[in-house]
Amino acid sequence: MEKSGLRSQGWFGRTGKDGFIYRAWMKNQGIPDEEFRGKPVIGICNTWSELTPCNGHFRELAESVKKGIIAAGGFPVEFPVMSLGETLIKPTAMLYRNLASMDVEESIRANPMDGVVLLCGCDKTTPSLVMGACSVNIPTIVVSGGPMLTGRYEGKSIGTSDIWRFNDAVRNGDMTQEQLTVAEACMCRSAGHCAVMGTASTMACMVESLGLTLPTNAAIPAADSRRKVLAQYSGQRIVEMVKEDLKPSDILTKKAFENAIRVNAAIGGSTNFVLHLLAIAGRVGIPLELEDFHRNSAGIPLLANLQPSGKYFMEDFYYAGGLPVVMKVLGDRLHNEIITANGKTVKENYRSAESYNEDVIADLSKPFKTETGLAVLKGNLCEDGAVIKPSAASPHLMRHTGRAVVFENIEDYHARVDDPNLDIDETSVMVLKNVGPIGYPGMPEVGNMSPPKKLLEKGVKDMLRISDGRMSGTGFGTVVLHVSPEAAKGGTLALVKDGDLIALDVENRTLQLLVEEEELSKRRAAWKATHPTANRGYVQLYQQHVEQAHLGADMDFLRGCSGSSVTRDSH
Ligand code: FES
Repeated sequence: MEKSGLRSQGWFGRTGKDGFIYRAWMKNQGIPDEEFRGKPVIGICNTWSELTPCNGHFRELAESVKKGIIAAGGFPVEFPVMSLGETLIKPTAMLYRNLASMDVEESIRANPMDGVVLLCGCDKTTPSLVMGACSVNIPTIVVSGGPMLTGRYEGKSIGTSDIWRFNDAVRNGDMTQEQLTVAEACMCRSAGHCAVMGTASTMACMVESLGLTLPTNAAIPAADSRRKVLAQYSGQRIVEMVKEDLKPSDILTKKAFENAIRVNAAIGGSTNFVLHLLAIAGRVGIPLELEDFHRNSAGIPLLANLQPSGKYFMEDFYYAGGLPVVMKVLGDRLHNEIITANGKTVKENYRSAESYNEDVIADLSKPFKTETGLAVLKGNLCEDGAVIKPSAASPHLMRHTGRAVVFENIEDYHARVDDPNLDIDETSVMVLKNVGPIGYPGMPEVGNMSPPKKLLEKGVKDMLRISDGRMSGTGFGTVVLHVSPEAAKGGTLALVKDGDLIALDVENRTLQLLVEEEELSKRRAAWKATHPTANRGYVQLYQQHVEQAHLGADMDFLRGCSGSSVTRDSH
């Protein structure tokens, strides 16, 4: 830290050749000299990309942030980082979350920044940016891009969760291909990320409930002018945060993580929340484990009636009062005294929130559902844990024993699921292996695999499905995910065979493979890994170092924080 207290002065405050070099090239952008003389330099970390359509409006959003920074006396510098578009990136955006976080971390540390505004939207763009920034730990504020307006198709509201319904409807003949093409144009009709409580909205709520944003960040639609106002205020606020030296490590205490878990239970957030929160906690050195998710969400009912657990959309959520109402309704169930990005406590921020529609955000006295958003399972089929989202599952399958129908990998599933001779019925348990962090690699969102066509045609809407993969935050069904250890690591999941009995008991939080230990030992001795392995590049590094799902699937060498110091100076 320089005498002025500003990290950026280590570059721009220099005299002689070094200072000349640091400033002269910047001046080719038309920047006057006084900008370099002691103003807080604020990075705007932008995930804009035409290949990440959910973040397609971020150049405009960055302009609003800049206005705020300039108004508060700061010097804005916008920079790009790897942007992860959920819909296009193959094999799965999750494979690159850790890579993007490394880009963010190194870009912030290597450059003259005193504070940073993270522009986050599509699913992985939030955790990757927050993880990277936490490993540097300079003052940081998050601005989310906001959800899309609700889709409208044939007079009905639609959103991302309808994709699964449309898919099943086309497969069983209830919808034509032409209708599907029309629906395609009706769903994503404005800027913004998915309009349901999918992973992107869950992440926007996560950063607000952690205290990393200004209040109301989570739900203002991208197309609503108030999103730009929030961006401008966030720009203003980050300059003050630099002056106060309010860093992520000051905000992200264990209590902040507990608040985020409680809020996530109340909004029915995505199962991906577990992975990303664990990974963020790892970066700030907060001990957080799967049991914390159970402990903190137990007894918190579902308040938000939002798809995929309920019927409304993020736009409705915002008009009903948004996340501030949830935070207020949770009241004493949250840690109210902890500090947030605007320097105020949770209580100060949310005590005056007003609820405008109790059908969308219910009160504690009359919750939307009593099941909490997530349950953590243990048992011999998932020694290190697994998760299920009871609020999006079928009550009749919450306690279920069935015969396994095993797919060795996703290709095997696609090849055989619609085979009329497949020995399966609605009581069977579909088991998918080798879609975990190492096995796929990258843990794709395939856990909510569609049931066989022949069962859909019979009217079967849900079946128990188990895998070491993930599920889209917009998905639903009785789906056990994140089984750890994964099959590719030789977890018990790898040993399941067709016909084995599997017992799920969500109330008692157990998942058991009902096979004698002696038989399992024999299978274990004969087991050989069958997943693909990369022999070069990032994917090889990833497969060698990614941790298991119950630890957040970060790389083992990325845990913790290296700080903001640059130890070597080549000029
Ligand atoms: Fe980007 Fe859903 S695809 S948020």
